[in-house]
Amino acid sequence: MKIEKVFGYQVLDSRGRPTVAASITLDDSSVHTARVPSGASTGAHEAVELRDSGTPREEKFYGGKSVFTAVAHINIKIAPALVGKVTALQEVDLAMKEIDPSLNHSGLGANATLAVSLAAAKAEAHSKNQSLARLFTPQGPLLLPMPMVNILSGGAHANRTLDIQDVLVLPHGAKSFSEALSWIVAIRELAAVRGREKGLVTHLVADEGGLGIPFDSIEDACSFVVSCIEELGLKPAVDVSLALDIASTQFFIDGKYELHNAKKSYTPAQFVDFIASLIKNQPIISIEDPFAEDDWSSWSNYAAIAPQQLQLLGDDLFTTSPTRLQRGITEKSANAILIKPNQNGLVSDTLRVLESAHEAGFKTVVSARSGETEDSWLSDLATGWKAQQIKVGSTHGSERTAKWNRLLEFEATEETKFAQPF
Ligand code: PGA
Ligand code: ZN
Repeated sequence: MKIEKVFGYQVLDSRGRPTVAASITLDDSSVHTARVPSGASTGAHEAVELRDSGTPREEKFYGGKSVFTAVAHINIKIAPALVGKVTALQEVDLAMKEIDPSLNHSGLGANATLAVSLAAAKAEAHSKNQSLARLFTPQGPLLLPMPMVNILSGGAHANRTLDIQDVLVLPHGAKSFSEALSWIVAIRELAAVRGREKGLVTHLVADEGGLGIPFDSIEDACSFVVSCIEELGLKPAVDVSLALDIASTQFFIDGKYELHNAKKSYTPAQFVDFIASLIKNQPIISIEDPFAEDDWSSWSNYAAIAPQQLQLLGDDLFTTSPTRLQRGITEKSANAILIKPNQNGLVSDTLRVLESAHEAGFKTVVSARSGETEDSWLSDLATGWKAQQIKVGSTHGSERTAKWNRLLEFEATEETKFAQPF
């Protein structure tokens, strides 16, 4: 099928901020639309998201965050290059790289390129009469990923109620995706009740739907979630383990890790020890960004002493970039990578990063952003790409449940297997 029209426009994300949507119309009159997410704890090495701040296109009521420049790039620069071509993700991504050869997509804007790339993937799936997940796994059972779900939020997502960004859970003892999800909903609900009883909940729902319960100490926050797991009759470390997103780049200031709520300051070497003791004392199976995005030596120093079964996960460290992943593989900095398509800017290149990670024996976690939309393409990609894990925030908010519900749809209607990465 051929591309008849490519059209970009501005929509809103779950934080009420502008983001980019793109539609591709095919010659059978079908329309394929995709909307892109946006982060708050954005890594310095991410592909460039174009915002209008300081440009003539800036819309004053959006505080510089409007995206009319990126939208114009779709309509003026990208559309003419694609109209009339056969719809195929690879070709569309290549055409955009020809227009803007910069590696970080700063010319067109990664929010423009990703919207078009996703719309192209959806259009190609349609032209083959497949779902987006089946475009990548045409045959055999679909692999439903293990959910990594936010219970407590802090950092940049919840007004720093916690020094770290998230305390999450991994229900690795569950036998099915729906069982896993039911455990998580119960843990989150109980955490809300127990938090309220203790008079703790001050900032109820954070950007990703987690509970903004204030804790001065990270250990106390972990123990609180563990107590909820136990109260439900689930076994910590056996049924459900903790996963932390430290997002430490956010508090790495002048070469030191500054825990504001705990009123403590650590050198990188001291922070390696701090992380090591946290992992010893709590049933944590995954830790994300324990060290800052350019503090490579702390990453490899800790990796050398970390327990073998621990998932050491790079988000801001890798920013879904092939060169940064390669460095991490060479330096043995981590053993897992967060895969965020909008850190990369193109669907086909994001898939390549995921495949290189799998080849190197890394685990992969396909991830949403803190600013999301009701679009559910992420669930199709995680499933079709056999990522084994998915992280989309909490179980609250339609922009989050859209992803869970898509996975539940697969489980109900397709032949599936539930990933067991731990
Ligand atoms: P972000 O956070 O989308 O605000 O960058 C998500 C994460 O750090 O995993
Ligand atoms: Zn993160």
